[in-house]
Amino acid sequence: GDVVVQEDPLAHWQTVVVDTERRLPEGFAPNDLVNIAEAGFPFTDGLAVREILLVDLNAMREAAAANGTPISILAAYRSYEQQQALKERRVEQLGPEVAAGRVAEPGHSEHQLGTTIDVTSEGQTDVDQAWGASPAGQWIASNAHKYGFLLSYPSGASGRTCYDYEPWHLRYVGRELAQRVVASGLTLRHYLFVHHPPLGYDPAAEPDTTTTTDEVVTEG
Ligand code: DAL
Ligand code: ZN
Repeated sequence: GDVVVQEDPLAHWQTVVVDTERRLPEGFAPNDLVNIAEAGFPFTDGLAVREILLVDLNAMREAAAANGTPISILAAYRSYEQQQALKERRVEQLGPEVAAGRVAEPGHSEHQLGTTIDVTSEGQTDVDQAWGASPAGQWIASNAHKYGFLLSYPSGASGRTCYDYEPWHLRYVGRELAQRVVASGLTLRHYLFVHHPPLGYDPAAEPDTTTTTDEVVTEG
């Protein structure tokens, strides 16, 4: 699908649904990107997030370190063009079907919002699904929401999230909304469809897997 979201993604960064169906406007880029160094991570060229995350991102970094499971950031804001290049590379490596479950099409990535990061353990330069069971991965799964970050793609929910399990991919929605989503037991996407449906969304015309309510996310 290729429905352009009707919400202004800059103002509605907490609730705008970006999935395989809905995409951000091609030229959309946040106007307040700052390097992750502003949240206390080592300066890394090209790794930027929206300024609105900084306080909570810094707090999460400190809490993870205090727990003995320090984290680093592997990916942050990606432009439409960067997502396009990434997608093309991964399609070549994995083939279109596997890549479809792992990498969003350009315009369809939460990374373009500037509020999304991929994390791993400090010192690691890559991450995979097994990382979710590591001490740092477990800490993130259980605690990221306290700092306003949610796993967009929890385990066993690809029918509702559109993507395979990604224990590293965190979207920032703020502490209050993150708390509500976790309390609901729903995935973020499902929660948004129920409580903040996309403008123009007609559930009757467009039945999909988000309408069931038996979702249990893996955060615990
Ligand atoms: N890996 C996630 C789905 C992305 O490409 O945004
Ligand atoms: Zn990601």
